[in-house]
Amino acid sequence: MTTIDISGAGKYAEFGESMEKRAFAAHERLESGEPFTGWLHLPSRADESETRRVFEAADRIRQSSDVLLVIGIGGSYLGARAVTDVLCPPPGNSGTQLVFAGNGLSGAYTDRLLRYLEDRDFSINVISKSGTTTEPAAAFRIFERLLERKYGAGAAKRVYATTDAEKGALRSMARERGYESFVIPDDVGGRYSVLTPVGLLPIAAAGADAAGFLKGAAEAELSLGANDMSNPAHKYACVRQAMYEDGKKIELLAVWEPTLRYVAEWWKQLFGESEGKEHKGIFPASLEYTADLHSMGQYIQQGERTLAETFLWCEPTGKAEVPFDENDGDGLNWLAGKKADEINRTALEAVKRAHIDGGVPCLEINMGPPDARSLGGLLYFFELSCALSAYVSGVCPFDQPGVEAYKKNMFKMLGKP
Ligand code: PA5
Repeated sequence: MTTIDISGAGKYAEFGESMEKRAFAAHERLESGEPFTGWLHLPSRADESETRRVFEAADRIRQSSDVLLVIGIGGSYLGARAVTDVLCPPPGNSGTQLVFAGNGLSGAYTDRLLRYLEDRDFSINVISKSGTTTEPAAAFRIFERLLERKYGAGAAKRVYATTDAEKGALRSMARERGYESFVIPDDVGGRYSVLTPVGLLPIAAAGADAAGFLKGAAEAELSLGANDMSNPAHKYACVRQAMYEDGKKIELLAVWEPTLRYVAEWWKQLFGESEGKEHKGIFPASLEYTADLHSMGQYIQQGERTLAETFLWCEPTGKAEVPFDENDGDGLNWLAGKKADEINRTALEAVKRAHIDGGVPCLEINMGPPDARSLGGLLYFFELSCALSAYVSGVCPFDQPGVEAYKKNMFKMLGKP
């Protein structure tokens, strides 16, 4: 179960009754059935027959394909990438390999991927809620050609479309071309969709425990249901807003395992798109420790004091330890016999103390072991905390009107009719 320690937030840990009341009102609002709150009870109300169909499709992909090409952008790929990076990290992952496209417009990357897929058996999971987003639509057109060239009439059987039930070009194409398709519920927005087929199909196809992931989220839904201050999501939302309102404009999410990097990327999108509007919002940034202590550590310790930091910790699983060396040429025998993970944890304690002393309030989120259940719980915890935090700051967590501005310019420049 995800836990949070806010003792390192100093005075902000005492956010006061009026902040608590704002969080209670936010939770009530979420439970009142506002638009786009379908994710709130998604884990416990998941349609079992639909979930089974997702897992059956995943089995078929695993039998027929070395690679599943996941085409999507933003909320349509980050969740699956986050979960599978933790549960099926290379090297040593024997499942179907996930590769991602449609999350950018680089021609060089596309060329490399086309070459890579040429000699491999692959299927495509194209994911777009709107069914009209330019980046995945362009990528799908490119990679579908390769699929058709390789598999001829059998190509359509290798395309899995995840999109809106009715609307959008992708839904129409799925109908016309006979792709197997999955629905993103109307009341679940992109960045809150990891527990729908958007996340579940690629996660299961990669060989990860998608059922365990869903179960972990259902457990979190139950344990985070209370509208009171025992709820860790309330604590996180309240302390964030208390820090923000006192000038801590940037939150750094620091992970201590490289496999959690994409969890931080997913978190950034969730919080950034949900809160950054109406000229408000904490800027979410991420770091990978201890690597980034040697690049960003100086700024964090002594730069502008607008930072708050949240450590994301998972229980260690590594066996590696520093060996004893008779010659001790590197003078490192004082560390001999210590596990790498033990040193990593000590580094966390040391960094926390240093950053707090330097004026950076520090929170710590412990997700438990890096397994499917914990990840389900963690991502649900973040979704709930984020929606509460956005409501507390007075913005709608479920829209992203600002994303249209670049699209308008780009369409005009490219001559879209
Ligand atoms: O959270 C969101 O709604 C967005 O980030 C979307 O996920 C992203 O823009 C992709 O949209 P779509 O799934 O419609 O292609």
